[in-house]
Amino acid sequence: MRIIGNAEEMRAWSLAHRAEGKAVGFAPTMGALHEGHASLLRASVAQNDVTVLSIFVNPTQFAPTEDFDRYPRTFEADCALAESIGADAVYAPKASGMYPDGYATYVNVERLTLHLCGASRPHFFRGVCTVVAKLFNAVQPHRAYFGQKDAQQAAVIRRMARDLDTGVEVVICPIVREADGLAMSSRNQYLSAEERQRALHIIQALTRAKALFDGGERKPETLKAAVRETMGALRIDYVELMDVEAIEPVEAIQGPVLLAVAAWAGETRLIDNIVLGA
Ligand code: PAJ
Repeated sequence: MRIIGNAEEMRAWSLAHRAEGKAVGFAPTMGALHEGHASLLRASVAQNDVTVLSIFVNPTQFAPTEDFDRYPRTFEADCALAESIGADAVYAPKASGMYPDGYATYVNVERLTLHLCGASRPHFFRGVCTVVAKLFNAVQPHRAYFGQKDAQQAAVIRRMARDLDTGVEVVICPIVREADGLAMSSRNQYLSAEERQRALHIIQALTRAKALFDGGERKPETLKAAVRETMGALRIDYVELMDVEAIEPVEAIQGPVLLAVAAWAGETRLIDNIVLGA
């Protein structure tokens, strides 16, 4: 498995494989890999000839008040896991290479970024879209793998990939959960035992909403109220029902609808979601 630290070398590696007619799959991450990331890698290895994993804790998607400095960094273990799954290259650029002095270009996706995490973290999607566009340019993938765990991010990236004529097929993989239902996240490491326990109210709330929905409930306000009530032990950031692709609030539920939540357990912000009527 090759470890590559700059965009020129990354692009040369990928273009050489493309020239041989090989399909290049790509899973972008910020490292501290867990089974959620592993599922993206496995899908890529299964569907492509070669697979690239990127590890880059992207400064432009963190606000100054957020956890950039203490974000978990476990590079050696990440590389070992990637290699065991069958990744062919790890792209791990330096921040100084990605954003050199004089850097001035950002990618903004409109509309889809207005609500949910776009409202709570106004800097966030500008940073995500910018870095993913740069990663696509360096890695030159045929397919790129993202998790439904970050449902709004997945929708935004899919839109951006189309709008910018990247030619990249965006593949969205299901949420991987712990045995007790907590959605896997690199940030779960921050949780104390007590916070970890309280965080289970999230999956309980989503499960309750699904049961109500499956029982015929279609009123957004009733569904959201049930979720808020069940998540009472957490500090709620948002509970929203959104159109799955447009990421806009739905007034009446017709087709599948995204129930997305964000909440704080202590200092740790957790997000999760479920698609009702999928
Ligand atoms: P990160 O949080 O490391 O996540 C990398 C990818 O793994 C994302 O596509 C995310 O949705 C997916 N993922 C995380 N937890 C998952 C889970 N429990 N089940 C399924 N997939 C999961 O998301 C980012 O990094 C960054 O914003 C990035 C896209 C790399 C840009 O910096």
